[in-house]
Amino acid sequence: MAMIKSPVVLLVVYMTAMVAVVVAELQSFDHAVKSDGSLSFLVVGDWGRRGLYNQSNVAYQMGKVGEKMDVDFIVSTGDNFYDNGLIDVDDPAFYESFTNIYTAPSLQKQWYSVLGNHDYRGNALAQLSPALIQKDNKWFCLRSFILHAGNTEIFFVDTTPFQDKYFTETEHNYDWRGVLPRENYIADLLKDVEIALKASSAKWKIFVGHHTIFSASHHGNTQELVDQLLPILEENEVNLYINGHDHCLQHISSSDSKLQFLTSGGGSKAWRGDTNSWNPKEMKFYYDGQGFMACNVTNDKIQLAFYDIFGNVLHTWSVSEYTHSSS
Ligand SMILES: *[C@@H]1O[C@H](CO)[C@@H](O)[C@H](O)[C@H]1NC(C)=O
Ligand SMILES: *[C@@H]1O[C@H](CO)[C@@H](O)[C@H](O)[C@H]1NC(C)=O
Repeated sequence: MAMIKSPVVLLVVYMTAMVAVVVAELQSFDHAVKSDGSLSFLVVGDWGRRGLYNQSNVAYQMGKVGEKMDVDFIVSTGDNFYDNGLIDVDDPAFYESFTNIYTAPSLQKQWYSVLGNHDYRGNALAQLSPALIQKDNKWFCLRSFILHAGNTEIFFVDTTPFQDKYFTETEHNYDWRGVLPRENYIADLLKDVEIALKASSAKWKIFVGHHTIFSASHHGNTQELVDQLLPILEENEVNLYINGHDHCLQHISSSDSKLQFLTSGGGSKAWRGDTNSWNPKEMKFYYDGQGFMACNVTNDKIQLAFYDIFGNVLHTWSVSEYTHSSS
């Protein structure tokens, strides 16, 4: 019996080691850029409400702008399905709030999504499941991953586990499968992000997470990210931190680094009317309503534009290789 048992034990140890290696490294993916090396994408957040609260109008304008820009992909900053994520992979909300809403030809590109806190209130694993890709192959959602596209690297980071209050509040249930023990999860994620950033040779480094680092809106700053993630971004000269969570469009610049803080959380319900004051030198733009962000990246330039539901450009900003300029 002992002769049969030992290889099994060895195999289990070996497999555990393999899994540990996979978990400890951020998965990375490649997305082809245009023939001139440029890249363009749209960013929308906080959207899944079966078309209500202007979600359909945002989707319509995304389709038009997406066509004009010939976007390569779409980024979702999370809170993909309200109020409580998906029940399971067969939840009709997937079609009702995603497939049947973003119908424009230009939006039939890869959607790269992260999870928001509302997604964790449902079955978080459902959104991460390949079964959803079978239903609609533009869907792609992981907790944290890296996207390489030409000279740009986009780091998608799972920010919900950072926020202390989700672990103490009793009002909502969160699906922490795969996250606990929390301390290890966060420590591993920060370590992996730092290693990947240090190894990165990308010209432009962009972060996407659901939660704000800085925001003048309803939720305000996320202190846990200010304390734990921000120093890593500053030290490694990240260009943009893009989030949702606050249901507005917002651009805050930093006085002591090149990092720009961009909120694109206007995918559906907005107009909360509770904006806090902010240093006007840093607050480049604030819109308490629905819309989305568009981004062009070339070898020497990043250009951003925020759009409302009528297709108006509300704010633009650009940075080039040598100078930082705003418009
Ligand atoms: C839809 O958008 C219009 C124009 O911005 C706004 O006046 C209206 O309040 C929005 N509706 C909802 C439900 O948010
Ligand atoms: C990106 O470039 C295209 C083509 O030049 C332009 O139509 C579009 O307005 C630009 N978008 C942004 C966000 O700068």
